[in-house]
Amino acid sequence: MEEIQYSAQSREHILSLISRCTNILTLPHIVHQILEVTSGKKSSASDLTPLIESDPALTARILSVANSSYLGFTKKVSTISHAVVVLGFQEIQNLALSMSVIQLFNRRGSDFTEKLWRHSFSVAVGSRMLASYLNLKTDGKYFVGGLLHDVGKIFLCQYLPEKFSEMLTLLDRQDFRITYHALEERFFGIAHAEVGGRLLESWMFPRDIIDAVAWHHEPHRALSDPALAACVHLADILCTIRGMSPLGDRYFLPMDKKILPLMYDLKESFGTEGLIALMGQLDLEIDRQNALLSAFRW
Ligand SMILES: [Fe+2]
Ligand SMILES: [Fe+2]
Repeated sequence: MEEIQYSAQSREHILSLISRCTNILTLPHIVHQILEVTSGKKSSASDLTPLIESDPALTARILSVANSSYLGFTKKVSTISHAVVVLGFQEIQNLALSMSVIQLFNRRGSDFTEKLWRHSFSVAVGSRMLASYLNLKTDGKYFVGGLLHDVGKIFLCQYLPEKFSEMLTLLDRQDFRITYHALEERFFGIAHAEVGGRLLESWMFPRDIIDAVAWHHEPHRALSDPALAACVHLADILCTIRGMSPLGDRYFLPMDKKILPLMYDLKESFGTEGLIALMGQLDLEIDRQNALLSAFRW
């Protein structure tokens, strides 16, 4: 381990980088306007519709999500007012927020980030599948939580590219026995889960999504919605075992066993068999949801 140039200032450096970057990486004005409307008590579809319609790109993306198999509607949704009614405020807010975050990072895409976003999309689909397997009401937060769970990793990879690739080289060395997560802590003095949580916090995301991202490795610590964090956590593990990860399955984290009581509460028959069956359906579901990819600008 002595070869790693770990500095005690690393953590401070990353924290100041996050606050500098979130000053520059601002979400579009329209997102803040949407947040104002969706969080307001008197909001109605008539407040939200003209706002979204004022942004043609967002309009097109929301319509393409509303018409994708994501929601399973058979009727065509061709207007925003119809989309607002069928999707609901919360779903529109989640979609607008996650699409904007992805756009911020898309501008500086690299091969590794591309792979990470694909992994994230798989985790988003998996997290939604888990929510329905656990009999939870499957609203958009499961998809969004999965989609953004590794946003901290994408941030580190894009804003500290040399350091990040130095870390990956070291990780690839056959004689070097250390997990990705331990190495990341050594290199940056902070875990990507915390970085992601801090980023979403600065963009004023809903608390349940911030917590699911910040605690996707230890979901029992997510106070606001541990079931959401658990779905993201389990989907992350299933996708990694299934080979849908840029780092390979050598680096997956073990399951957080402290979520088991909650899992059995939600579904008495929760267990390995069910999870293996879900994993088998994952590829098919990801293919089925492929139309969604373009809505998120891949
Ligand atoms: Fe992660
Ligand atoms: Fe992940």
